[in-house]
Amino acid sequence: MKGVILHGGSGTRLKPLTYSGPKQLIPVGNKPVSEYVLEDLVVCGVTDVAIILGETYPELVRQYYGDGSKFGVKITYLLQGKPMGIAHAVGICKDFVGRDEFVVYLGDNLLQRGISEYVSEFRKAKYEAMVLLKEVDDPTRYGVAQFDGSKRLIRLIEKPKHPPSHDAVVGVYLLRSSIFDSISSLKPSWRGELEITDAIQGLIDRGLPVGYSRVEGWWFDTGKKDDILAVNALILDEKCGYELEAETVESKVEGRVQAKKGTKIINSTVRGPVAIAEDCIIQNSFVGPHTSIGRSSSVIDSNVEHCVLMEGVRIEGVERLEDSLVGKNSKVIQSGRKGHSLQLHVGDFSEVVL
Ligand code: TTP
Repeated sequence: MKGVILHGGSGTRLKPLTYSGPKQLIPVGNKPVSEYVLEDLVVCGVTDVAIILGETYPELVRQYYGDGSKFGVKITYLLQGKPMGIAHAVGICKDFVGRDEFVVYLGDNLLQRGISEYVSEFRKAKYEAMVLLKEVDDPTRYGVAQFDGSKRLIRLIEKPKHPPSHDAVVGVYLLRSSIFDSISSLKPSWRGELEITDAIQGLIDRGLPVGYSRVEGWWFDTGKKDDILAVNALILDEKCGYELEAETVESKVEGRVQAKKGTKIINSTVRGPVAIAEDCIIQNSFVGPHTSIGRSSSVIDSNVEHCVLMEGVRIEGVERLEDSLVGKNSKVIQSGRKGHSLQLHVGDFSEVVL
């Protein structure tokens, strides 16, 4: 089986972070979201992976994953450029896939229990395609499944106004080369994209067996800030162990804290689960649960909780920073001046909640 990771898209909802990199490289637990996706594929025994690149700094993706050998896979990069839809991205994998079966995994989707049980089911049942479903409160934002009386999947509808069920289609698709015929006859949808739901519908319409499986455990599509913070918390809850390589001076380190080499924790309290990367300084501060801090960052005279700070961030004199996602090399500093004037230097599409 081959693997395809979608690393394109425009990431509009994650501006301004997506001005300087693709959203799939935003870290949770100090690792890019798409690295968890790659790890899921490796667990399934997939070693031949194509990464589909978009227009937003594709070279950063190549730089990070290289030829894949560091991750135990062989990576082929395919350039999609403009985001013309998930089915369009899948379409450009035709030569890469050949006659193999393959799994398409959206690079910003995360599943608590990975995908190996679904891959086994797909292979055993010999489906032509298989989708994963998860019940959601508001199905109008997703591809949605419709069933007949005997629970057979009969329709997939993209972002329906009147959803026939609460079963949203998760961003993992198990496919065979028959999908390419379907894709070649697709027309762009009302939003101008080639929809993967329409391509799979084409298989259903041809009478081919299309299966589905319901996802157990959590599933997240990390398209917005709050999703990133939520996934960061879940990943730290589940995967962060106690691993203290940092130097600590007059500090309390409680619970599952991962603090890497070159980091100094001085006169501070760090309460896990927390992940702190290399070469950070935590001084006269409290770092609370569900926080990830990227390398070469500093937190001075501040309280930080439930945050993702990317690399090279400086937080200083901030009484309480919560539920925040701070991009690379940004500074959040309380000047200590009297009065309430604020001095901001904020990029386009930033959000400052005071
Ligand atoms: P979306 O999150 O639906 O689209 P987007 O990345 O353009 O985000 P926004 O709505 O905020 O502008 O895309 C789902 C996943 O599929 C995501 O990982 C990006 C990827 N993708 C592609 O690789 N190519 C495409 O043409 C599209 C539409 C998405």
